[in-house]
Amino acid sequence: MARSSECTEQYAQKVFDSAGIVRDAILRQLSLPNCAVVSLDVLIRPETPDDYAAIREVNLAAFGSLLEAALVERLRDDGLVIASLVAVDDAGQVVGHILFSPVMTMATEGDQMQVASLAPMSVLPSRQRRGIGSMLVEHGIELCRRAHYHAIVLVGHPSYYPRFGFTHALVVGLKNPFAADEAFMGLELVRGALSEIEGRVVYPEAFYQLS
Ligand SMILES: CC(C)(COP(=O)(O)OP(=O)(O)OC[C@H]1O[C@@H](n2cnc3c(N)ncnc32)[C@H](O)[C@@H]1OP(=O)(O)O)[C@@H](O)C(=O)NCCC(=O)NCCS
Repeated sequence: MARSSECTEQYAQKVFDSAGIVRDAILRQLSLPNCAVVSLDVLIRPETPDDYAAIREVNLAAFGSLLEAALVERLRDDGLVIASLVAVDDAGQVVGHILFSPVMTMATEGDQMQVASLAPMSVLPSRQRRGIGSMLVEHGIELCRRAHYHAIVLVGHPSYYPRFGFTHALVVGLKNPFAADEAFMGLELVRGALSEIEGRVVYPEAFYQLS
């Protein structure tokens, strides 16, 4: 995997050649600290307003419903985005998306901490099982780390997220509002950030339109 520091002019030229995208714009994106080329033909970068419609389509195609797209849009409108990343192929098409937003842990003794929530994430069905989802998760975790978040929580497939270090064991002391058991998982970016809390996680209003 090539990282941002290894983003090359050749890659920009390749995108330009194949998609007719202005080369300087690509070079500007590649120079962003949170941009990464993840394979020869997929780039992970932050969303821009030009991506909004495509993000909606990717979520719709992956989930078969508009609920997750609506969640993305509501979190965006509410200013609750830590990172919203797209995977873009060498034709300039958005093929994957992931969003991280802030939620609160409330300890029973009263302490509160803002942690990151991973939700939703989606990859176009025709592009799944090629590592795009993994790259979105890994890149997003790194951005949360750089933003000084101590932990990330999610409700997701119990057989998918453990490969990135998420476990249910880390959040057994935390109640979640979705009544998720094994599907509720956490990842500590600072040791003890989750495992030492007894309490609950409070999600913003946007998440309740999902249920
Ligand atoms: C989950 C998802 C984002 C993964 O994207 P991806 O690009 O295919 O992921 P990767 O290529 O990095 O990883 C593929 C792995 O994910 C696994 N996977 C995909 N969907 C899964 C699911 N529903 N449950 C468990 N594992 C799943 C595949 O079996 C594959 O496992 P393998 O590597 O052991 O063969 C994609 O399948 C998707 O968009 N699914 C529909 C929407 C969704 O469920 N989003 C997540 C909500 S928690």
